[in-house]
Amino acid sequence: FVPPLKNKGSGGVIAKDALGTPIKKEDYLKTHPPGSRDLVQGLNGEPTYLVVNDAGELETYALNAVCTHLGCVVPWNAAQNKFICPCHGSQYDRTGKVVRGPAPLSLALAHTEVDDDGFVEIKPWKETDFRTGENPWWK
Ligand code: FES
Repeated sequence: FVPPLKNKGSGGVIAKDALGTPIKKEDYLKTHPPGSRDLVQGLNGEPTYLVVNDAGELETYALNAVCTHLGCVVPWNAAQNKFICPCHGSQYDRTGKVVRGPAPLSLALAHTEVDDDGFVEIKPWKETDFRTGENPWWK
């Protein structure tokens, strides 16, 4: 009998900070206020935004930060309540839905969950994109 490895089979990963340290939800919420969108390492090590909603809870979705135009990492602009790409000016709303080109598509979604030890887990999003009602383009 081989005990199942954590996260195997789900395709998920534990979110990590810039130093590669696994992130616990409780600690994360102490330092990330309601409305914040901050980068962690997500699926395949890709830059991914964890979203804290206005109630101070971790959202059940995360956003891949890679611009769907030519792949720049898109910063969150809290003052404008949008993600604005510095490369060619594409804009995405607070849920990552594209609102201005040249980016052709919204930021890719991922699921967030909290595992039994309190760590934030990021899993692939294969369902309908709740922002567009369409199948995910990133599958
Ligand atoms: Fe983001 Fe071109 S790479 S607008």
